[in-house]
Amino acid sequence: MSNQTGRSTGLAIETAGLVKTFGANRAVDGIDLSVPAGTVYGVLGPNGAGKTTAVKMLATLLRPDGGEAHVFGHDVVREADAVRSRVSLTGQYASVDEDLTGTENLVLLGRLTGHSKRASAQRAEQLLEAFGLTDAAPRQVKNYSGGMRRRIDIAASILNTPDLLFLDEPTTGLDPRSRNQVWDIVRAVVAQGTTVLLTTQYLDEADQLSARIAVIDQGKVIAEGTKGELKSSVGAGAVHLRLRDAEQRPDAEELLKGALDAQVLLEADPLALTARIANGDGNGTAAAEKASRALAELARAGITVDNFSLGQPSLDEVFLALTDRPATPGGTPTDPRDDAQEEALA
Ligand SMILES: Nc1ncnc2c1ncn2[C@@H]1O[C@H](COP(=O)(O)OP(=O)(O)OP(=O)(O)O)[C@@H](O)[C@H]1O
Ligand SMILES: [Mg+2]
Repeated sequence: MSNQTGRSTGLAIETAGLVKTFGANRAVDGIDLSVPAGTVYGVLGPNGAGKTTAVKMLATLLRPDGGEAHVFGHDVVREADAVRSRVSLTGQYASVDEDLTGTENLVLLGRLTGHSKRASAQRAEQLLEAFGLTDAAPRQVKNYSGGMRRRIDIAASILNTPDLLFLDEPTTGLDPRSRNQVWDIVRAVVAQGTTVLLTTQYLDEADQLSARIAVIDQGKVIAEGTKGELKSSVGAGAVHLRLRDAEQRPDAEELLKGALDAQVLLEADPLALTARIANGDGNGTAAAEKASRALAELARAGITVDNFSLGQPSLDEVFLALTDRPATPGGTPTDPRDDAQEEALA
């Protein structure tokens, strides 16, 4: 019955007012989430935002102190077994045995989950190859690099294709190449029908992979929507121009200010300008219209534009606009959360 609820709404996860407190610290402070099935849903937030705590409640590893959460229509507290049968989790916790080899880990998992010796060996080999771990397969996992370790973790968590996979910061600390490999894996997993809830501190990661994103900060959802919606919430976009003649830049600047009703930045390159378009009626069409009108005016004024692009603001700008501080780890000299926690304790 509850299972049908999940299916009929097409939601893999639905939470309402979800709360987890540790003493006076409200690590998760009333989170409402609706995660459509069959997509990657990004949960973006800085250190200590409450991402892991939220994931642990959804994966039935931690009991909520308030609110409700359903996974495919099953209550995470009252129907924890049903939830467990459909989810898998990897990320900031150990899931594989360090002393076993890559192959041994996957074969063991296959055997533990009821597969024959032969089927387990086959599946292990298949996954190790797909994850680029064939050479590392006979080595103990404790000797793996960070990127290899992350890949074997994910391989272990999708050995039995779960309906919902939690990936808790799957690429934190990885080099760009390893991150790209993990991203490819995530895309492949979703293409096979699994829903992925991905937590990340990296805006570009959420941007690359997720259909929808929730930005969380200090236990609360501070923004939610598609990437486009989030980006347009801070402005309609930015027009980048490169002129043929540097001498025309002051004229171009004046003209753009008027035509776009926007702040115009002169870039270090003497030929380049950027204009940030304000959120008039809040949709991208308006931005594109304004930009093309501005281009026409430049042409009429005899200003030659060699290069032009209209881009949406980055998720970094979104986070900055929402929180007044950068999202990038280590981007803040002092951690404003410390103050917040002290206030909560007082
Ligand atoms: N077991 C625990 N006991 C006490 N406090 C905890 C516990 N787990 C988490 N917290 C606190 O809850 C808050 C949220 O932590 P959480 O691990 O969920 O953040 P996060 O978003 O996953 O951060 P990170 O990006 O660093 O992994 C933090 O203030 C953290 O110190
Ligand atoms: Mg975490």
